[in-house]
Order: sequence, then structure tokens, then C-alpha cells
Amino acid sequence: MRSQREESARRVRSERNYLDFADLVSAAPPWSHRGPTATPCGALWRPVVPPWSLKKCFIIQRVIRLRNVTKEYGNIKALDSVNLEIGAGEMALVVGASGAGKSTLMKLLYREEKPDAGQIIIGNIDVGSLSHTKIPYLRRRMGIVFQDFKLLPHKSAFENVAYALRGLGAEEYEIQKRVSGALKLVGLLDRAFNLPSELSGGEQQRVGIARAIVQGPPLVIADEPTGNLDPNTSFEIFTLLERIAQRGTTILVSTHNQSLVKHFGKRVIALDKGKVISDTGSTFTTGSGGGFARS
Ligand SMILES: Nc1ncnc2c1ncn2[C@@H]1O[C@H](COP(=O)(O)OP(=O)(O)O)[C@@H](O)[C@H]1O
Ligand SMILES: [Mg+2]
Repeated sequence: MRSQREESARRVRSERNYLDFADLVSAAPPWSHRGPTATPCGALWRPVVPPWSLKKCFIIQRVIRLRNVTKEYGNIKALDSVNLEIGAGEMALVVGASGAGKSTLMKLLYREEKPDAGQIIIGNIDVGSLSHTKIPYLRRRMGIVFQDFKLLPHKSAFENVAYALRGLGAEEYEIQKRVSGALKLVGLLDRAFNLPSELSGGEQQRVGIARAIVQGPPLVIADEPTGNLDPNTSFEIFTLLERIAQRGTTILVSTHNQSLVKHFGKRVIALDKGKVISDTGSTFTTGSGGGFARS
């Protein structure tokens, strides 16, 4: 009979065969790796950059690519021929009025919805054509943060963060290590055993972020994570997301808070009636038009 550890390693290997996100991780610029970063299979990984390849640091690989993506609900075009590319390690803000298509864009990325036309590529995966059985594997490789937190009300902060790991059959020592690491990163270790109802809105969203990053995903998607929070707390949440991006994680976050947009000075993608009406371009770009630098 296989030991638990062998079984866990086997599961990781077989998942890896399903979807390969390795390129998402290795593409992050090395100076952004302040701490260890998780590989797609969950193991910790540190990039080794020989001096001769420093030039290659400027090659920013695309994590997300949308080509002519259209999504319609009846006769409403929630997204209309959207073309977009997001580079690895980048933090990009999606802005737009209510109804502009921000949530639709996010839902297409985590395959809550399917595009009616066009192609969505994340890493090396064609998300639109992913079969239902593979969607959970896609979602395991991206952290998702929601406006209304979506925490399990009868579980502690710790158990909310641990939930998916337990579902994967991770060993207890691994769970303890990862969950306390994630809670420490969001500054909530001392509230680990409180229920969501005992936490403030900002603290609940921190738990939501810890849950999103606990498996070390290369990509985090946050749809209006500060929509229910006051300005100061919103600022703290964005600062936290920025810190996570600095560790090499690609972050796509939607907001309609203009003061946050101005303060953080990140790439801003503006949507209006389902169309991209402006894009300040990749913050890593040396070229024009939001493309990516190449060697
Ligand atoms: N499930 C749905 N059924 C019908 N219409 C929808 C649905 N989801 C979104 N829409 C419509 O699509 C447009 C974009 O919505 P959404 O992406 O939620 O915008 P935002 O998040 O920017 O407020 C809106 O006009 C909205 O009414
Ligand atoms: Mg929305």
C-alpha cells in the first residue's frame, strides 16, 4: 500500500500533467521574489538567475491573453471584442462604472462563464475550451478574492483558509505550515481561531486573501475586493495585494475607487460598456501599446 506521502506526491504529479502553469511562475522578474514562491505543484521554489541571463529578466511572459473576447447576456454585450494581455508579476487594475463588464471579465478568467466568441489563454491553457472535469485544476492555480468575502460562516479564519487544502488531502503538518504562513502574511495570525462574524470587514477580506494565496498560485483575481470596505481599510487591502504582487504573483483586481487607482499608480485597464476604452499599458513595458518587452 502506498504511504500518504507517496500518494500526495502522485496526486501532484498527475495534476501537473493536466495543466502546466510552470511558465507563469518562472516568468516573474527575479527581483520581485522577496520570499520563496510556490511552484504549480505547491513546492517552494527560488529562482536562480545566472548573471549572463540578466537581460532575460526583461522578458515578461504573458500570463493572461484575451483575443477578441465577447460575452453576451441576451442582447447585452457584457464584453465586446476585448483584447488584453497581462504579464507575469504584474498588478493590473480593471476600472469602470457599474455594468461596464468587470465581473464578467473576472468570471471568464476563472471559468464561471464561457466566452461566446474569442479566446482566453491563461499560461498555456485555453480556458474557454477547458472541459468541466479540468476546471477545478484551473482554479487551484489561481486565487480568487470576492467582494463579499464568501467565507464559511461556521468555520474559523484558520479553517476557512485550510478548507481547500484539506479537500486536496494535504497532510496536517503541511496545512499548519501553509495556513499559518498565509495568515501571517495578511497580519491575522492572532485572529486565526475567530469566526468570520467576530472579525471586521477588513479582517474578513484578509482571510479571503489568505485563502486565495495559501496554495501559492501564480495568479490572483480579485473582483472589487474593497467594494464593501471603508476608504482606510480599502487602502490597507490594496497595500496587501501590492505586497503579494511584489513577491512575484500576478494580480488582476477590479475597483471603481478612483483614489486607490491614483494612489497605487499601477496599470489601469478601463472598461466601458464591455469595451476596453483605455489601457495605461504594462508597468514592465519598455515598448508601446501595453505590449511586453522582449530580448
Ligand atoms: N448573469 C447575467 N445575466 C444577464 N445579464 C448579465 C449577467 N451578468 C452580467 N450581466 C450584464 O452584463 C453587463 C456587465 O455586468 P458586470 O460584468 O457584472 O459589470 P460590472 O462588474 O462592471 O458592474 C451588465 O449590463 C449586466 O447587467
Ligand atoms: Mg461587478
